[in-house]
Amino acid sequence: MLDNGKHVAGLEVCAHIGEGGFADVYRVRRPGGEELALKWFRPGGHPELLVRFRREAALQQTLQHPHIVPVLKLVEEDDGVGMLMPLYAEGSLADRIEQAPLPPGVARSLFVPLLGALHHAHSQGVVHRDLKPDNILLRRAAGTLSGALADFGIAQVRGAPRMTQDGQRMGTVAYMSPEQQRNPRDIDHRSDIYAMGVVLFECLTRAHPDDSPEAFAELWEQDAGLAEALRTALQPMPSMRFATAAAFAQAISAPNDLSQRIRDLELRIQALAHPPAAQLPSPAAAPFPPTLLALEVVLVPLGGTLMAAGSAPLALTAALLLAGSALIGVTAWKMWRDAGPATARDLLPLLAGGVVAVAVVLGAWPDDGALGAALVWGTLPTTLIVLRIALGTQRRSPPPSRKTTLDIEP
Ligand SMILES: Nc1ncnc2c1ncn2[C@@H]1O[C@H](COP(=O)(O)OP(=O)(O)O)[C@@H](O)[C@H]1O
Ligand SMILES: [Mg+2]
Repeated sequence: MLDNGKHVAGLEVCAHIGEGGFADVYRVRRPGGEELALKWFRPGGHPELLVRFRREAALQQTLQHPHIVPVLKLVEEDDGVGMLMPLYAEGSLADRIEQAPLPPGVARSLFVPLLGALHHAHSQGVVHRDLKPDNILLRRAAGTLSGALADFGIAQVRGAPRMTQDGQRMGTVAYMSPEQQRNPRDIDHRSDIYAMGVVLFECLTRAHPDDSPEAFAELWEQDAGLAEALRTALQPMPSMRFATAAAFAQAISAPNDLSQRIRDLELRIQALAHPPAAQLPSPAAAPFPPTLLALEVVLVPLGGTLMAAGSAPLALTAALLLAGSALIGVTAWKMWRDAGPATARDLLPLLAGGVVAVAVVLGAWPDDGALGAALVWGTLPTTLIVLRIALGTQRRSPPPSRKTTLDIEP
């Protein structure tokens, strides 16, 4: 720890204001009196962490955006290394949320520029991977609260060698997208969009979207536009989220033009018409992939029919049935893994697939063992999903903890 009053690179240390995995942050003063922040790499840290620290500084120096915390300079002293930044005097968003939730209007005006900054980082090939309230810093500009993205310590940079080793999970579980929880190496910018959804949700409700369906219902009542945007940002499947952070920003920007006002009104009417629980951000089930559905509908009854007719070689019949059932199995497993509790609408294609499969076999060969096979295989996915709803299986178990997991083997 640097003691108050100590001088580092001509800066006077005034107070310890924050800490993270391997650095401490101090408020420091320049000889002229200007106050800045110094993030100081804790002495004795592992050399790999120091490489990361330097990389983080370089990255934040390149990513120039008014809502990304800039690194003014890398301070290299005999007794340590630090990065000098402007001071964000209002502290982190985590400090702010501790006091009270943000009113929707404040949240909108804070997050639109933050999402703009995120879009900028993404356009430079940078995925942050650790977005959370502690890594968003605040200050007041002309009386209004303004935020900036900080801590690019574990960011992934397109084209750069990866630093995360196999099996390492870095980031903070509570804010991680489902895909990042599964495999932190296999993600793209849409993982950050999910994390920003969790952060925004927390700012508005002080709850985690996985833990509090009631909070979402309340939000829906309060600001349907924000609730709808969050529903999209928090989809478990990346392809169903906003495609870009800019689109997310657009969706939450103040409802000032007429079409947006009408849309907001429509959402409010919907919210009134449906009990709030029906509007939970229950991550909609993945739609059944149409190609697989087509194959299910063709392969299984075809195999069943040939088997019943006894007119084709056994090997061909078996291959058709096997291929059909393998497809069904894989698809059902994927849906199980990715999707939340399915909605009735998501079930329709599955039901249709099952019905068509059975109808084809019935029509072709009404009374034979093929019927049994088709019944079982043609309706298997439907049965699985119905079971899942009945059992109320959740998308994933609640995050084990909110703490940062920064597992780096020394
Ligand atoms: N420029 C700054 N101005 C004010 N507070 C800061 C600044 N940089 C960091 N902090 C505080 O220090 C904490 C840790 O900083 P951060 O960069 O996130 O470090 P780490 O990589 O160790 O998590 C932040 O959550 C915030 O509270
Ligand atoms: Mg941090």
